[in-house]
Amino acid sequence: MTHIPVLLKETIEGLNPQPEEFFIDGTFGAGGHSQAIKEKIGANGKLLAIDWEKTGENFADLPEILEKNPPAGGTKADGLILDLGVSSEQLDISGRGFSFLRDEPLLMTYNPKEEPVRQILTELTEVELFKIIKEYGEERYARRIAKAIYERERGQPILTSGELAKVIANAVPKNYERGRIHPATRTFQALRIYANRELENLERLLQNLRQIIKPGGRVAIISFHSLEDRLVKNYFRDYRKQGKMEIFTKKPIQASKEEIQKNPRSRSAKLRVAKIL
Ligand SMILES: C[S@@+](CC[C@H](N)C(=O)[O-])C[C@H]1O[C@@H](n2cnc3c(N)ncnc32)[C@H](O)[C@@H]1O
Repeated sequence: MTHIPVLLKETIEGLNPQPEEFFIDGTFGAGGHSQAIKEKIGANGKLLAIDWEKTGENFADLPEILEKNPPAGGTKADGLILDLGVSSEQLDISGRGFSFLRDEPLLMTYNPKEEPVRQILTELTEVELFKIIKEYGEERYARRIAKAIYERERGQPILTSGELAKVIANAVPKNYERGRIHPATRTFQALRIYANRELENLERLLQNLRQIIKPGGRVAIISFHSLEDRLVKNYFRDYRKQGKMEIFTKKPIQASKEEIQKNPRSRSAKLRVAKIL
């Protein structure tokens, strides 16, 4: 399945890119949001597109990236978009074990230089595993799953996504979630967030927002997990209290029924947009 950009219209409306402006896409992916921004900023605009997988750059390092390669004029950006998490391409064709529906090497990192999940699983204690699955996956059977993975690792380490999915399926009750989601959904999400330090990266970016975006510049962040959305919400609120930000989205914008029907990935998406003051 090709990647359909989530909440595209709402994101572009919020960012309101103008001709000749300088924008940053911190999560380029298949370039859906970038393409729409390019059309608005035009041939004289500038777009810096990075992706941890494709360009090897982490958006958490944006202040350093801008310092090393200052865009023409050496200015901060007029706008920044982040569309967090994993892309449809990464799930479907990356061959790196992001999906429990495929039997691939259990790597699950956006950047191949990071430590793969199959290695991480050999190092974590049962309690650490439990905490990760519980916190990042909000998985009610975290204890059973952690025990099953830990015991399996002591015998024959898990090497593929298919093997991990089986270990998880065997550890939970047969009617898990009444069949609504695959039993491995939450654990896979948790391990991906942990392996890629997704919350730390987002927090570093939020801390440095004013080094990246100039006063008057806009930021749009699409998150897919309640912990991510909470981070964005709290940072925005604190900046606003300090008189450093105007928030455009009192409540996060979510996808319409029609969009969810066309693109199930948009179901859990939450968009927050703000302006740096
Ligand atoms: C949901 S996709 C973005 C899709 C894109 N907006 C589009 O319309 O095609 C998220 C992308 O962010 C990348 N990514 C995840 N964490 C990152 C990070 N810390 N720094 C840079 N890119 C990251 C992933 O590799 C993935 O390609």
